[in-house]
Parts: sequence; structure tokens; C-alpha cells
Amino acid sequence: MRALIVAAFFALSACGSADAPPTPSEQAETPPASSEQVTTDPAAEEMQTRIAALAAPYNQANYEAGRRAFAQCRSCHVIQAGAPHRVGPNLHGIFGRAIGTADGFAYSQAVQDADFVWDADHLDHWLQNPQTFLPGNRMAFAGVRDETQRRDLIAYLMVEAQP
Ligand code: HEC
Repeated sequence: MRALIVAAFFALSACGSADAPPTPSEQAETPPASSEQVTTDPAAEEMQTRIAALAAPYNQANYEAGRRAFAQCRSCHVIQAGAPHRVGPNLHGIFGRAIGTADGFAYSQAVQDADFVWDADHLDHWLQNPQTFLPGNRMAFAGVRDETQRRDLIAYLMVEAQP
């Protein structure tokens, strides 16, 4: 286990997040990258470059960690343009979109009654605890407690889910 933690730390620091080593609780939730996930992948490197151009604090995010964190959402959400909704709505183009407006998705009354446009701050609060942020919504998800993991996940969505 110690060897895995060390390996994961080096994988993360290799893409510029040496200031944010994974906490033990993150380690428990997100298993270390397997060897083929290490950032020699040119597509992942390109995405890490796009992350570096985002506004702070998202420019500090780790693409690989964000991609792994999105595994928690993947069973219910797709992010590709035009892909069919799952249990949850397609999240393509989520930033700048008013809440509850993905075409053809049957939202709860709580979401239909809410009135704001998704930005990083709203998403950060939603992901921290969906039920306290918007009581009565139907997203059956406990939340992402770790602030660094939310930052990485939001940055991942900023580069992967936007048109
Ligand atoms: C168990 C399934 C499930 C999981 C896991 C899940 N969601 Fe959801 N999500 C939903 C459902 C269902 C809704 C619609 C909620 C409603 O209508 O009340 C939703 C709504 C949303 C919305 C609002 C979309 C809009 O169009 O306004 C966002 C943003 C979102 N989810 C992000 C995430 C992210 C990011 C994760 C992973 C950390 C995640 N969700 C995990 C089911 C899920």
C-alpha cells in the first residue's frame, strides 16, 4: 500500500500539483492511477495544458485526479454533446446553463423551481452536499467532501464538458 501511495504521489506531482498531495481519505476514495493512466497520454497532457489556462483556483487542478473523481458521476451522467440522458441529465455545456434546462430531462420540482445559472461556485456547493444545497432534489448522491477533489472534478468538467 505504501508503494502505491508513493507512486500515486509521483503521478500527481508529475503534472504540476506537487502543492496538493492526495490526503489519506482521498486515497481511500480514488484508487491510484494504474500504469496506463499515468500522464504520458498526449490527450491528457493537452487537457492538463487547458486546465493551466483556467481561472484560479481551477488552474491548479489535476486533470487525472478530476477524471478519476468523475467516476463517481459516470453511472448517472454523460458529458458528450447529444448523448442520451441517464439517471441524471447530460452535463454537456453545464457551465453557463440555467439549472434544470437540459432538453428532454424530467427534473424534480425542486430543480424546476430553482433559478440560477451554473458556474463553478454553484457547482462547488451542489457537489459538497446536493441535499442541503437544494433540498428536495432527486440526485441520490452524498456529495464530494474533499475540497481538492471538487476542484479537480470541476476543472475536469470545464475542459471536458464544455462546447
Ligand atoms: C445516482 C445518480 C447520480 C449520481 C451518482 C450523480 N448525479 Fe448528478 N444528478 C442526478 C439526477 C437524477 C439529477 C436531476 C436532479 C433533479 O431533477 O432533482 C442530477 C442533477 C445534476 C446536476 C444539475 C444538472 C442541470 O441540468 O441543472 C448537476 C450539475 C449534477 N447532477 C452533477 C453531478 C456530478 C458532477 C456528479 C458526480 C460527482 C453527480 N452529479 C452524481 C443523478 C446523479
